[in-house]
Amino acid sequence: MKILVINGPNINMLGIREPGIYGNQNYETLLCDIDGWADELGCEVECFQSNHEGAIVDEIQQAYGQFDGIVINPAAYTHTSVAILDALKSVAIPTVEVHISDVTKRENFRQISYAGMACEHHIIGKGLEGYKLALEYLCNKYR
Ligand code: DQA
Repeated sequence: MKILVINGPNINMLGIREPGIYGNQNYETLLCDIDGWADELGCEVECFQSNHEGAIVDEIQQAYGQFDGIVINPAAYTHTSVAILDALKSVAIPTVEVHISDVTKRENFRQISYAGMACEHHIIGKGLEGYKLALEYLCNKYR
């Protein structure tokens, strides 16, 4: 079971960016946590972060035939990117959408999720723990 974790723009700024919304933990610690959770669950995980929409599309396309599941937090591209939605639909890999903050309670422009339309499960507003829940969901799916 191989899972690809994709993070969009500014997720690498965790710990610095808007701590009142995203918390104090930094991106490197999140990567360590993800490795630990993957070990516990007995799955293999690769993490990818980019600030560039096209790079995220490339990564999704390259996941075809290589990964059994995707965990994606497209960050701001969630609310704008039909290209990421189409890429997820193209590869048809079971995908879980994660948002650290509760986007449902934030600005109007965050109320649409294009990428979410290609996701079979959504974890919203659970903080960084959301990534763990997403990994658990995908691992349980294959048990
Ligand atoms: C986010 C929510 C998005 O609206 C925002 O643009 C982000 C992070 C989250 O994880 O809560 O960058 O995806």
